Amino acid sequence: MSQNNQVIGVIGAGAMGRGIIQLFAQAGHEVRFFDAAEGAAEQAGDFVTGMVQRGADKGRISQEDADATKARLILCKEVPDLASCNVVVEAIVENIDIKQKVFASLEEIVDADAILASNTSSLVVTEIAAKCKKPERVAGLHFFNPVPLMKVAEVISAVKTSSETIATLKQVVEGTGHRAVVAADQPGFLVNHAGRGLYTEGLRILEEQVASHADVDRVMREAAGFRMGPFELMDLTGLDVSGKVMESIYEQFQQEPRFRPSSLIPPRMSAGLFGRKTGEGWYRYEDNQKVDQEELSIPALLAGAQVWVDPDADQADELKSLATAAGATLTDDAEGGALIIVQPWGIDATQACAERELDPVRTVAVDPLPGLDKRRTLMLTPVTSAAMKDAALAILGNNGHAVTVINDSPGFIVQRVLATIVNIAANIAQRGIATVADIEDSVKLGLGYPNGPLAWGDMVGGERILDILDSMQAVTGDPRYRSSQWLRRRVLLGQSLLTEEAQR
Ligand code: NAI
Repeated sequence: MSQNNQVIGVIGAGAMGRGIIQLFAQAGHEVRFFDAAEGAAEQAGDFVTGMVQRGADKGRISQEDADATKARLILCKEVPDLASCNVVVEAIVENIDIKQKVFASLEEIVDADAILASNTSSLVVTEIAAKCKKPERVAGLHFFNPVPLMKVAEVISAVKTSSETIATLKQVVEGTGHRAVVAADQPGFLVNHAGRGLYTEGLRILEEQVASHADVDRVMREAAGFRMGPFELMDLTGLDVSGKVMESIYEQFQQEPRFRPSSLIPPRMSAGLFGRKTGEGWYRYEDNQKVDQEELSIPALLAGAQVWVDPDADQADELKSLATAAGATLTDDAEGGALIIVQPWGIDATQACAERELDPVRTVAVDPLPGLDKRRTLMLTPVTSAAMKDAALAILGNNGHAVTVINDSPGFIVQRVLATIVNIAANIAQRGIATVADIEDSVKLGLGYPNGPLAWGDMVGGERILDILDSMQAVTGDPRYRSSQWLRRRVLLGQSLLTEEAQR
């Protein structure tokens, strides 16, 4: 099945079905599609034809190619019209009973070696396959919206899916130019599983009053390089949808503490604060534009300000330069009245003060992780004085540089969120849900993160990630921070987090 001349069936021609029809038709396959709702298949056909023609009008493909693609679209009036398909992709309503019935009706009509795949995002694929006579030819094929632009699909191996079925689906998907990643039939499959950490840790930071939702988003975007922060993402997806996904993944993982949903969500769901679609979520929207929290105003540095920079700080030299550039004087004496700047990893500013016997009233912490050229995060102890906060803000925000001020937190914002993401990815590898290469690519393509999570762990340093998690677990006593064995073993052995288990 390596050539792109298969007959692909698509049943359910809604938002996802249309994209799947377009993708396979453009890749050269005949695509037969059916929808149960009156006129829905016609609408989908018109939509895909329009998209293909737009490609020709914009010069992305020739008119000849566009016409050939359109000619490969076969609108079906009833399910038996799908009988000649080699692969049928189901993208109907997300309901297990209806999906099971549709699969049973497909089995009646297709050839013995045809493959049946479901685009389900939250159901157990094995439950769909279980009602089929030949479960070995049933798999998940999970695309992302919009299908032609999101260049990855998850091929889900249900408990009885044959390796031939997986290999064929992988080939057919890769023939379209998309990356096919293979995942076990586990909650959230690969991408939605790997994407949990951004939400869960973002919400915990908010619960602990470390920072506002807008500050978490800004730091994750501008310092860590995410396209969107967790609260912006929830507003885009809709809390009615993402709130349910958080609950269902937690329950499907048998109440795994790493995925424990936040108690902040249910009251907001009850209040209808779903996000963009209701005009208000974590943010308010006016004319569909987000109303953002105002940036901090940066105070002037008072004359005679003195600064002591911890000599052990990762960016001690840069911090000293920033202090002098802002007009402060450097001092070697931490005991006098100077502003104290520290750069802890994994611990909060309070613990840094206690360990080093520093005056917490004069101490601020600066996150060493993202680099001082990005948005800078300034963390306070519970007793840092307003004067010292202002002095630090004047130094870090000099020349209009973006600064976010947060309350005390072991691991600031970025360290905590990244460590959580890396830990979850490591556990996906540990559980054999997917290979390292598939985890890395699916997260970049499916979630749009700037790096694969395990490569990112290597960039920060596996040991540091482990320290952050151990420290979070020690401070909070919460098992959600317990480290994955995959991570711990590779750190102890000095190996990259990308190291697969040896083949023996
Ligand atoms: P949709 O509501 O836009 O389209 C579903 C289509 O299926 C409708 O046109 C409906 O008439 C048709 N349909 C319902 N029952 C049918 C039946 N028995 N036989 C034939 N057609 C039937 O839904 P959407 O968003 O396209 O989702 C489809 C599937 O894809 C669901 O399983 C969903 O969980 C999954 N999915 C959705 C994503 C999204 O972003 N919307 C992303 C990834 C997966």
